[in-house]
Amino acid sequence: MSSPPPPPKLPLFLPLFLLFLLSTTTTTTKAATKAATLPPSPSPTSSPTPPTTKTPSPTKAPSPTPPTTKTPSRSIHSTLDPKQLRALQSLDSPTAKDPCIQPSPRNATICDSSSPFRHLVSLHLSNCSSDLSLSYTALKSLSTLQSLSFTNCPATPTRFPLDLALSLHSFTCIHSLKRLTGVGLSHFINLTDLTVSNVPVSTSGLYVVLGNMRKLRSVTISYANVTGYIPKHLLSNLTHVDFSGNRLKGKIPSSITLLENLESFNLSSNALNGEIPDSFGDMISLKNLSLRSNSLSGAIPHSMSAIPDLAHVDLSSNQLNGTIPKFFVEMKKLRYLNLENNAFHGVLPFNLTFMKRLAMFKVGGNSNLCYNHTILSSKLKLGIAPCDKHGLPLSPPPAKDDSSGDRSESESSDYDDESSDSNSKKGGHHGPNKVVLGVAIALSSIVFLIVFLILLSKRCG
Ligand SMILES: *[C@@H]1O[C@H](CO)[C@@H](O)[C@H](O)[C@H]1NC(C)=O
Ligand SMILES: *[C@@H]1O[C@H](CO)[C@@H](O)[C@H](O)[C@H]1NC(C)=O
Ligand SMILES: *[C@@H]1O[C@H](CO)[C@@H](O)[C@H](O)[C@H]1NC(C)=O
Ligand SMILES: *[C@@H]1O[C@H](CO)[C@@H](O)[C@H](O)[C@H]1NC(C)=O
Ligand SMILES: *[C@@H]1O[C@H](CO)[C@@H](O)[C@H](O)[C@H]1NC(C)=O
Ligand SMILES: *[C@@H]1O[C@H](CO)[C@@H](O)[C@H](O)[C@H]1NC(C)=O
Ligand SMILES: *[C@@H]1O[C@H](CO)[C@@H](O)[C@H](O)[C@H]1NC(C)=O
Ligand SMILES: *[C@@H]1O[C@H](CO)[C@@H](O)[C@H](O)[C@H]1NC(C)=O
Ligand SMILES: *[C@@H]1O[C@H](CO)[C@@H](O)[C@H](O)[C@H]1NC(C)=O
Ligand SMILES: *[C@@H]1O[C@H](CO)[C@@H](O)[C@H](O)[C@H]1NC(C)=O
Repeated sequence: MSSPPPPPKLPLFLPLFLLFLLSTTTTTTKAATKAATLPPSPSPTSSPTPPTTKTPSPTKAPSPTPPTTKTPSRSIHSTLDPKQLRALQSLDSPTAKDPCIQPSPRNATICDSSSPFRHLVSLHLSNCSSDLSLSYTALKSLSTLQSLSFTNCPATPTRFPLDLALSLHSFTCIHSLKRLTGVGLSHFINLTDLTVSNVPVSTSGLYVVLGNMRKLRSVTISYANVTGYIPKHLLSNLTHVDFSGNRLKGKIPSSITLLENLESFNLSSNALNGEIPDSFGDMISLKNLSLRSNSLSGAIPHSMSAIPDLAHVDLSSNQLNGTIPKFFVEMKKLRYLNLENNAFHGVLPFNLTFMKRLAMFKVGGNSNLCYNHTILSSKLKLGIAPCDKHGLPLSPPPAKDDSSGDRSESESSDYDDESSDSNSKKGGHHGPNKVVLGVAIALSSIVFLIVFLILLSKRCG
């Protein structure tokens, strides 16, 4: 064997060669992924191009040649107020053609029919470039807007002119404008719809924002870092309230149950405590309810049985106790019921007929809750223990890990799956890298061997 000669050279050469191969493979894969991401962007760009291709066109197209071949009809005469057109351009909004022609690109603009110039009534800015700044002057000239919406527009925030604030009926700000103030929002007194999500709102409480909005029908202020309490006096005409993902504390005021037009109520992921108000069932229009991930305690109020159209109920991850009421069975529209991770006890009052009706049903994580195994099969994997004949959990609750062999199988197997998967699938952040590394090393060794053999053969030959 010619093994002795190669070794001295190999130790030096091999690692370098491997490194070289590795770096080339990684760079090529990066290049490949880049190449893969680049082509798609042009193709779907028919809609989302504005940042790249359309932005040049708006500046060129509208001013010199709007009334040409593309638009056959009278739209030449019904163009937008020049002041507003300029404002739009300063806002980076797609204005390639007359913004008043419907449908505008991505439905960004809608105009009224006034003359001699039309005016904007609706403006939707989305996916703005990050250097966009909203000028006060531009916004002031847009004071005919009834609807203004920002989605993924990290523009520098500004003060909203009062004229604009008063004219708006609908204001939406999702993951945009970096920051808002409660006082600033409170000037929008003619709003019927307010949506602020994933934008920090600095305010001492929701009442500051909402106190003067007498026409509000729908309000979402979610993931906005708002502290304080839920206002005691909310408008009775509200149909949609979403305060999820804030830092709201204290009790749910019982006056909230005066909202008898409320269809959707979401207080999930806050720090609310105390009990669900007894009069909760007065909200007779309620369809969707989430009180998920708070610190609510006490029982599910019986009055809730009076709400006829409940479809979606999420009370999970609180400290609710008592037994699970049977009245959920009577709710014909119910499709989603999540009661997991609470402190409910007793026998689960549902049978398979009921559960099959639901799209989602969860009761796991209630250690004193159990199911009647003559009615329900362990195969349902409810995440709770079967009952003994006294209606107490058979396998003692902390035994989830031990005795769970057959019954709370779901739980333990889920956990097992996770832990075992974490190496192969889920923990993939580490796993795949190792696999990739291994494959790369193996491949490069093979390549090296081949090269080495070729060189050898050449030398020999
Ligand atoms: C904005 O960007 C997101 C993600 O890149 C995309 O899904 C969405 O369709 C875009 N919205 C518009 C209106 O172009
Ligand atoms: C634009 O709005 C119209 C009417 O509201 C709607 O039918 C259409 O789907 C929207 N188009 C886009 C791309 O959002
Ligand atoms: C908005 O509200 C103000 C004050 O209540 C009122 O004077 C004004 O006419 C309203 N504007 C619109 C566009 O509704
Ligand atoms: C949330 O509010 C607290 C104070 O109320 C502040 O310290 C923190 O920076 C805010 N977080 C964000 C993301 O604005
Ligand atoms: C609430 O709605 C009712 C009917 O929808 C309407 O008559 C009433 O004026 C509204 N109240 C307010 C304060 O907007
Ligand atoms: C409540 O809000 C959370 C987070 O915003 C959302 O995931 C959930 O679907 C909402 N639930 C209902 C019933 O609206
Ligand atoms: C349920 O929780 C409430 C409030 O924390 C407490 O007063 C009550 O004793 C609890 N009831 C049961 C049956 O644990
Ligand atoms: C209400 O819940 C239903 C069923 O889960 C869901 O399809 C619907 O999107 C929800 N609506 C709102 C406004 O959250
Ligand atoms: C399930 O429970 C409902 C109401 O409690 C009852 O009407 C129905 O007959 C039960 N179904 C079965 C299969 O036991
Ligand atoms: C379980 O269901 C059977 C049949 O309906 C009933 O006889 C028994 O009492 C129930 N057990 C418990 C603990 O509720």
